[in-house]
Amino acid sequence: MKRVITYGTFDMLHYGHINLLRRAKERGDYLIVALSTDEFNWNSKQKKTYFSFEKRKQLLEAIRYVDLVIPEEGWEQKVNDIKLYQVDEFVMGDDWKGQFDYLADETDAEVVYLERTPEISTTQIKRDLNHSDLVTEHKSEIS
Ligand code: CTP
Repeated sequence: MKRVITYGTFDMLHYGHINLLRRAKERGDYLIVALSTDEFNWNSKQKKTYFSFEKRKQLLEAIRYVDLVIPEEGWEQKVNDIKLYQVDEFVMGDDWKGQFDYLADETDAEVVYLERTPEISTTQIKRDLNHSDLVTEHKSEIS
């Protein structure tokens, strides 16, 4: 059985995430998602998620491509996870290109970067909603 792992925040799950998860799963038989905890997001990335860890986890567990969700609590856990779960391939979107190449030296896993889906991200959705007429109208109705 070929095992694949990927890491991320997956806040406000969108089709870019689904595309990534589908292609990651297609590369093997079993897909593990290491999901950033709220503490890790805040402490390391100064990111406050819209959905809590538990909600993001539930959403990911409902996706047919995802077999297991584990918490990502720090940058340094990857080598350990790969060994513990006997992972064959480490997959990330190409916004991370090159950054995890060291895992190929420190473990038996292959490191693969998949092309990001263009023009969609959680940050972009938040930005668009902030500027949409709909939200502006709603805001003026309630103010
Ligand atoms: N991803 C992707 N295509 C997108 C958005 C994300 O392939 N359009 C991938 C990322 O490369 C990563 C995974 O999905 O491997 C999780 O990304 P995450 O950072 O959680 O999503 P973003 O939408 O990029 O979130 P943010 O805007 O907060 O950075």
